Amino acid sequence: MTIAPTLDLDRPADRPPLPLVDPFARAITYLRVSVTDRCDFRCVYCMSEHMAFLPKADLLTLEELDRLCTAFVVKGVRKLRLTGGEPLVRRGIMTLFSSLSRHLKTGALEELTLTTNGSQLTKYAAELKSYGVERINVSLDTLDPDKFRAITRWGDLDQVLRGIDAAQTAGLKVKINAVALKGVNEDELGELVAWAHGRGMDITVIEVMPLGDVGDDRLAQYLPLSMVRARLAERFTMDEIDYKTGGPARYVRVKETGGRLGFITPMTHNFCESCNRVRLTCTGTLYMCLGQEDAADLRTPLRASEANDVVYAAIDEAITRKPKGHDFVIDRRHKRPALSRHMSVTGG
Ligand SMILES: C[S@@+](CC[C@H](N)C(=O)[O-])C[C@H]1O[C@@H](n2cnc3c(N)ncnc32)[C@H](O)[C@@H]1O
Ligand code: SF4
Repeated sequence: MTIAPTLDLDRPADRPPLPLVDPFARAITYLRVSVTDRCDFRCVYCMSEHMAFLPKADLLTLEELDRLCTAFVVKGVRKLRLTGGEPLVRRGIMTLFSSLSRHLKTGALEELTLTTNGSQLTKYAAELKSYGVERINVSLDTLDPDKFRAITRWGDLDQVLRGIDAAQTAGLKVKINAVALKGVNEDELGELVAWAHGRGMDITVIEVMPLGDVGDDRLAQYLPLSMVRARLAERFTMDEIDYKTGGPARYVRVKETGGRLGFITPMTHNFCESCNRVRLTCTGTLYMCLGQEDAADLRTPLRASEANDVVYAAIDEAITRKPKGHDFVIDRRHKRPALSRHMSVTGG
């Protein structure tokens, strides 16, 4: 199957719509797209063991996802990240990468990338590289096979490590994302940093966010990154650096390894003031903030007409509703998730 180019970018005669700027004067240049809510793992902080997934009929087709992504590119999005669920388990996903790569060729898009659990990389790494993907994020919280199985419930560490090998062999730059989990991997984070840097990979540590009911007590999982950082400081010298990837991480350079280490601290540090991104789900719902319920339906305008003016208008209207920030709380009085939707719906 190929996705036929149908949009304005492919028809340069069309009037270019105005770029996206939200009410707080933040330019929206980064779109994250959850291409499926399904996954081959069931990470304890992300999903419950028996997740109910969306009926397949509710999903946008790959052609529709291409059309919506392209509409955002026309409106000034420069960076596109496909995520999920596990993006590489969506059937035919390589056709979407292939068709979106045309925007890299024209220069309309600066970066096409993905966040993956790594399980399918042995199969897809070389193809991703051929579509212009340069950097990918791979989520990995531990190097201990038993712990890995316990965290992911279903995952095989060796398969992911082989996937990372394949990605590096294909010439993809890999960044590791690790969620800090109290009593699970907190002793191991120093090792994980040394391992990643030893293989020439950046690594980012993420605080657990209260998204979705995962059937586990969030307070039991939550480990503030201030504590992680204090512990890492016993082993490493960390110098603040002004490195930005367009994402919310703050980076340090680890003197002993020479590598970069990022911290994403939604709970202890508010990173909202410089937020440049919005998130699209696989059903065409646009979330203007990861941490708020408000959303816009883009599927209806998309299906209403073959012309894109209706879609552009819906995107413009949604951006006027982008909130200043989120207000996540995890404490003893807030044991329920701050938001009912899971990370796999909005995309991490
Ligand atoms: C939802 S996953 C989707 C992409 C892919 N399946 C993966 O795991 O990389 C994206 C990222 O969100 C992180 N994540 C999931 N649930 C989270 C939560 N409740 N708090 C913090 N990070 C979370 C994962 O560790 C992963 O790095
Ligand atoms: S974090 Fe990623 S790999 Fe783990 S269950 Fe969620 S979507 Fe799947």
